Amino acid sequence: MKVFITGASSGIGEALAHAYAKRYQNENAIIGVAARRSEHLQALRQTLEAHYNIKCAIYTLDVRDAAALSAAADDYIQQFGAPNIVIGSAGVSSGTLTENADDTHAFQAIMDINVTGLVNTFQPFINAMRLAAKNGHIAQLVGIASVAGIRGLPGAGAYSASKAAAIAYLESLRVEMLHHNIAVTTIAPGYIRTPMTDINTYSMPFLMDADIAAAKFVNAIENKRRFIVIPWQMGWVARLMRLIPPVLWDFMAKNAPHKPKINVE
Ligand SMILES: NC(=O)c1ccc[n+]([C@@H]2O[C@H](COP(=O)([O-])OP(=O)(O)OC[C@H]3O[C@@H](n4cnc5c(N)ncnc54)[C@H](OP(=O)(O)O)[C@@H]3O)[C@@H](O)[C@H]2O)c1
Repeated sequence: MKVFITGASSGIGEALAHAYAKRYQNENAIIGVAARRSEHLQALRQTLEAHYNIKCAIYTLDVRDAAALSAAADDYIQQFGAPNIVIGSAGVSSGTLTENADDTHAFQAIMDINVTGLVNTFQPFINAMRLAAKNGHIAQLVGIASVAGIRGLPGAGAYSASKAAAIAYLESLRVEMLHHNIAVTTIAPGYIRTPMTDINTYSMPFLMDADIAAAKFVNAIENKRRFIVIPWQMGWVARLMRLIPPVLWDFMAKNAPHKPKINVE
């Protein structure tokens, strides 16, 4: 199994690297891991290669840099061939308010990383994966969206908008890729315990540990799920959120706690 994962230096991406290494340890798995913090990726490679019989390739990059992702994809494909699975997990979250001029930079960064970052991640792999799929190999693109993309959350306009955009983008991609036999899976997590949620001061219903979540993500990917919310309880919340009329949503959401503001680079 050949996998490429962005956002692998932390949280869900890192847990997914562990989950794939564990699941495919006896099948010469190759896992490409990408993020900006090289020291975290190196520590991850050491752990994975020490515990499992797999190969780990590191790509230190920013997902906003299309050329860097293109170079990483070229390197991966040249060394190992087309990946079976490419997962875009890189993402950032911060509280934002449109009324604050200071938040404009965060709006731009969140959209660039969470939406354009996915495009930059998938694009350079598609041609090789299309050819591999023709030869009967598994070819699958996976985007990590969020339940926050189902409805607009107050105080998180940038994050909600980026995840709504990610959900719509991944759906377009899924239909486009049907012609190439490349499956596309959208995963919309609820609350998963990672550095991204560790800073939240409010209660997080159905909060799930990252390793447990990652094992469920891997199952969903293997089952070629088109769209899935994990944990399942959040799936029901998401279904209800979709049905609520705007007037009722305004009433319910107006006093919701806001995501803390962090520095988004
Ligand atoms: N945790 C949750 O409850 C939850 C819920 C719904 C959706 N999600 C989504 O799940 C994904 C992973 O989040 P997480 O909870 O695992 O958060 P996390 O622990 O903060 O991890 C975020 C990852 O994204 C990488 N990243 C951020 N900006 C990047 C950039 N510009 N270029 C390359 N890599 C970048 C980070 O690596 P570097 O900083 O080293 O670059 C890190 O590896 C995100 O898309 C997030 O929106 C999380």
